[in-house]
Amino acid sequence: MIQIGEIIKNVPFFRSLGRDSIDFITEKLKYKQFPANSVICKIGDPGDRMYIVLSGKVSVSAANGEILAFIGSGNYFGEMALLTGEPRSATVSAASDTETFVLEKEAFDVILEKYPSISIAMSKIMSQRLRETNAVVSEKAKQIKTAGPSGPSGNLRDKHLTEVLAFCEENSLTGTLEIKHEGDKAVITYDKGNLSQVNLRDLTDDQAIDLMMGWNEGEFTIKPKIMTFEEEVSQAARTGKILVINQSLVVRKILERNLGSLGHTVFTASDFSQGIAALQKNQPDMIIADFKFQELNGYELCRQIRENSAWENMPFIFITDSTISGDMLAKLKTLPATQIVDSEDVSHLAKIVESLL
Ligand code: CMP
Repeated sequence: MIQIGEIIKNVPFFRSLGRDSIDFITEKLKYKQFPANSVICKIGDPGDRMYIVLSGKVSVSAANGEILAFIGSGNYFGEMALLTGEPRSATVSAASDTETFVLEKEAFDVILEKYPSISIAMSKIMSQRLRETNAVVSEKAKQIKTAGPSGPSGNLRDKHLTEVLAFCEENSLTGTLEIKHEGDKAVITYDKGNLSQVNLRDLTDDQAIDLMMGWNEGEFTIKPKIMTFEEEVSQAARTGKILVINQSLVVRKILERNLGSLGHTVFTASDFSQGIAALQKNQPDMIIADFKFQELNGYELCRQIRENSAWENMPFIFITDSTISGDMLAKLKTLPATQIVDSEDVSHLAKIVESLL
């Protein structure tokens, strides 16, 4: 405990605290290791914890994969989402094997309430980080003007296509991945980390990807789309009204909190009749539903809601799990404007929600 206290004492915002305060905080920390190259948190995800680096180093990167900073032992990251309630502002990955202390949001809130000086110290460090990044960005902007807006590049000889695709997804790429292989040129389009289109000869997306999986060499270039300020604002404003109809209070609460923290307005209902009442009252843009209810199944719920002409095109997302029968899954798949998510992975769900808005 004493040793941990010594490390904590040197973390910038804890420096001014006394022994008792340090012990109080130390009790709330959990230990977690990350192997080199693993992603610790992804840009755009909701954040419910922050990290203090004990040993090793992490990299902080922007949506286009650009590294903004490295954070090493005795420093911390992941505090911004906790302070602002906004999604993660950057992707943080372990640059080497890294040991951390994790501080969950609940404990973080308790600590901040007890020691308000910490939030002032954190704001100072946040401003300092911002200033350093601004300096890097303006230097890069000068270079981009002369070099043109192309991003990371390489050869499939050194990095397999699966790794390149994972990189585009992890960094929420909006833009294109272009690959030149012998006489072919493939262009893969991404929207916020979602693969939206593949252009290669006259092949379908699936055929093209299958073919490319066999390419053992080929120059690739990732080209992030440079957005105007207005485009950035309108993209960021892609939020909507979502009705969650789910029997589980826990699922309703998780979705309410996480989708709410991404700026969506979330209404909830636990069954069909509550759902109809919420639909009439709130006019949502889409419904996220469970597939089994006491009075009727998800397929019937969707059909009955869409019988009303005001809601005939209402998009639906169904959250399913392993207990769904193959027949029911097949039936859900026949419904138009319907997405099926086979887990409660909120970041995946959030991407689908955005694509429907
Ligand atoms: P959060 O937004 O919760 O998750 C990503 C974290 O990366 C963020 O908190 C900060 O701790 C850290 N971070 C984001 N931008 C920078 C930056 N420009 N320099 C250093 N750290 C950053």
